Amino acid sequence: MMILNRPRRNRQNEVIRSMVRENFVLPAHLIAPLFVIDGKDQKIPIKSMPGQFRLSIDHLLTEIAELKNLGVKCVAIFPAIEDKLKNERATEAFNIDGLNARAIRAIKEAFPEILVMGDIALDPYSSTGHDGLVDPSSGEILNDQTLEVLALQAICEAKAGVDILGPSDMMDGRVGFIRKTLEQEGFTNTLIMSYTAKYASAFYGPFRDALDSAPKKGDKKTYQMDPSNSEEALREAKLDEVEGADILMVKPGLAYLDIIWRLKQSTHLPVAAYNVSGEYAMIKAASEKGWIDHDRAVLESLTAFRRAGADIILTYFAKDAARLLNQ
Ligand code: PBG
Repeated sequence: MMILNRPRRNRQNEVIRSMVRENFVLPAHLIAPLFVIDGKDQKIPIKSMPGQFRLSIDHLLTEIAELKNLGVKCVAIFPAIEDKLKNERATEAFNIDGLNARAIRAIKEAFPEILVMGDIALDPYSSTGHDGLVDPSSGEILNDQTLEVLALQAICEAKAGVDILGPSDMMDGRVGFIRKTLEQEGFTNTLIMSYTAKYASAFYGPFRDALDSAPKKGDKKTYQMDPSNSEEALREAKLDEVEGADILMVKPGLAYLDIIWRLKQSTHLPVAAYNVSGEYAMIKAASEKGWIDHDRAVLESLTAFRRAGADIILTYFAKDAARLLNQ
């Protein structure tokens, strides 16, 4: 037989495969999201996210030391706020002595070289469970009034020493509003990683369990994007660019690799992907049942993000993956 082009020649052993391999994932590409709670010596397992915990600040620092040794140098902090501190105006979101600010300060004191990302959105702090302020009579999510609170939250986190702000709220104009406020207050080095294309997704379920932050009423469809759309993601990206974002993010990840790809093709900013809680839960659950190979599924998913064009990956697998990659 005369088959002149045989692609299998480039796959015949590990040496040639390594030489022609196009995409890699390294621990340096990963951001580890971590859940924080108040108190001491608390490490409470999150049922729907095996291997993930609500950590008190002491345990949080131990976890970060481990990540650092494995080469993961950036963490994203999500505080689980006690119900009694939540209210309709989400005032705890900008409490400089609150759990979130204390956690950020503790990390920067213990590990100045670790980058800390703080979330910008009201849902963990608001009694409504929404990312924005809610009009009590109509139930409408109030865009412009929310921006004022988000800016207070941004300045609170910046004062605590946060390196990267991640606005995950999906209000219109928030990146620009936060950027201008940061400039006015002298925080010219604070990065904004915008949740540019954040979809109203079923894959956030376990995260909302972890923070007890599910909306009490209604859903998030008037601010988070319709999963059917992709042109809209490019429009959001254009706005975030002119409003002063440093990095654009797509969320969720695995069901949205096309969006990551399209964004990467259309921007000169770095692109991040959020491998969300539901994606984590699916691999953990299937591998606990013995239905898939955990380690291979993890590395294959993370590599897929890189192949799709993601520079940075936020993933609850950060520690698992870094261990595997260091082997
Ligand atoms: C809240 C926020 C959510 C996530 C990150 N920030 C949940 C939501 O929008 O309801 C989800 C992360 C995950 O599922 O891993 N602003």
